[in-house]
Amino acid sequence: MNANELRTKYIEFFKSKGHAQIQGKSLLPDNDPTVLFTTAGMHPLVPYLLGEEHPAGKRLTDYQKCIRTGDIEAVGDPSHLTFFEMLGNWSLGDYFKEGAIEMSFEFLTSPQWLGIPIDKLGVTVFQGEDGIPKDEESAAIWKRLGIPEERIVYRPREDNWWGPAGTTGPCGPDTEMFYDFGKEPCGPDCGPGCSCGKWLEIWNDVFMQYNKNAEGVYEPLARKCVDTGMGIERTVTVLNGKKSVYETEIFAPIINAVEKASGYTYGSDSEKDKSVRIISDHVRASSFILGDPKAVTPSNVGAGYVLRRLIRRVVRHGRKLGINEMFLCPIAEVVIEQMKGPYPELEENRDRIITELDKEEKKFLETLKQGEHEFEKLLPNLLKDPKKIMSGRLAFKLYDTYGFPIELTEELAAEHGMTVRREEFDEAFKKHQELSRAGSEQVFKGGLGDQGEMAVKYHTATHLLHKALKMILGDHAAQRGSNITAERMRFDFSHDAPMTKEQIAEVEAIVNAQIQKDLPVTMEIMDIESAKSSGATALFGEKYESQVKVYSIGDFSKEVCGGPHVEKTGGMGHFKIQKEQSSSAGVRRIRAVLE
Ligand code: ALA
Repeated sequence: MNANELRTKYIEFFKSKGHAQIQGKSLLPDNDPTVLFTTAGMHPLVPYLLGEEHPAGKRLTDYQKCIRTGDIEAVGDPSHLTFFEMLGNWSLGDYFKEGAIEMSFEFLTSPQWLGIPIDKLGVTVFQGEDGIPKDEESAAIWKRLGIPEERIVYRPREDNWWGPAGTTGPCGPDTEMFYDFGKEPCGPDCGPGCSCGKWLEIWNDVFMQYNKNAEGVYEPLARKCVDTGMGIERTVTVLNGKKSVYETEIFAPIINAVEKASGYTYGSDSEKDKSVRIISDHVRASSFILGDPKAVTPSNVGAGYVLRRLIRRVVRHGRKLGINEMFLCPIAEVVIEQMKGPYPELEENRDRIITELDKEEKKFLETLKQGEHEFEKLLPNLLKDPKKIMSGRLAFKLYDTYGFPIELTEELAAEHGMTVRREEFDEAFKKHQELSRAGSEQVFKGGLGDQGEMAVKYHTATHLLHKALKMILGDHAAQRGSNITAERMRFDFSHDAPMTKEQIAEVEAIVNAQIQKDLPVTMEIMDIESAKSSGATALFGEKYESQVKVYSIGDFSKEVCGGPHVEKTGGMGHFKIQKEQSSSAGVRRIRAVLE
């Protein structure tokens, strides 16, 4: 069974169980300051898991593109990927443990669906902690369905608890499903969840029961939900009797393209194989980031920085395979061809993918050239050292100033019979990383789905601002992005020139007038076509369900939106624009507060 068949079967199965198929969303989340990328299928559904009504109903299913960058440097082993696809099904206050586990079991084992033999499966359940009980209920359900007791294992919070990608949001215990590769157990404690290579996790059913708030308190959810995630690449691996995701048909054409670019045959050398895997994964991830309707381009901050790191790592590993020319674009073409069926945005944004990859690759090759040049300049002095040791500080300077990677400094040094004091470099590098991590952690303040009172007010203010901008600047001033924390709102919109002081004052006055009028905020569910023809604003580049929620603020504004919003505008406070600046070409950014 290939990835396309698995995707189709999964959706078909859950539709047959009363689930509505919804659209997977962008890789770049809106309104969520806690993460750079969509990390799981549940991510775009956070407001609904926390109690919002979903226009498609209480049972949902979809496939979602995801990126996890937790440890980019670790990618390269046989099962980890930065980009992957997740299949999911959700219950919003409908079925809970029993329904979820029964459906997972049926889909995995029934010959009509995946037909995995029961004796190849094992599961883990939550062992209990801090007043949250041991999940004996899930264990009993698995046992009743036929999973032998010795393959139902209790595991602690690190393993069997799904929290949000950020610090706050919906969470709860989970039960995870593993495939047994049939290897000998690594010891007496080896069982589902063991990382020795015998077991591979393929699916996770999360029982969303709590919302972790900004104070770290677990508040029980009024409506219990289920969130599940099945990894497509891993499941295709086990269904086809493969040992690694990189051996599947998903990666075969990409690995072929890398072989063609390098002349190296995959499987002949373990170090080089690792480089092939890294290149394959990272080109796939980079193509999806650049092909997203809300794409970012390589930069030195946030998601753009992750993209830059991915691309640069590809170039470095290309050199390990002996490639010194430009080679990324033909590999990206293969990714686009292969994935454009389920993800037509790749085809739509083909030009951007290719242009940006090309640009960044060229730029990095320049960096490498310059680094080599700087190294040559240092060389006469370096060679004077009788011990032939290059200081780590100097190597760090090459890295910090020119972006020249340590591995390449070491290579050049070795060519001249020298070694680099690596510990010294590592120390300087660690210090630098700690500083930048402290910087990026600021990003994670606030919270995933932080539906605190202030965030809700800012959300409503976003609609008021959007409408006011269109009134003052013209209809072209459409929303391009939005980001809300409890402290402020940020709003990106299409417009070519800086706003004048007068325009800013007018926009503020319009928004404040709507707040003072204490307008009611109302919501209707309708199909997307009627929503658009009724004059509701829909966001450019956003994929919508067939049924959507439309929020109206009095007669002033009408937008397609997931919510939540205040009930009346009266208590929102005073709206003030603190900053108006350029965000990117043709896009302006406003930072505003409610005082
Ligand atoms: N959100 C859960 C996961 O990603 C299903 O594992």
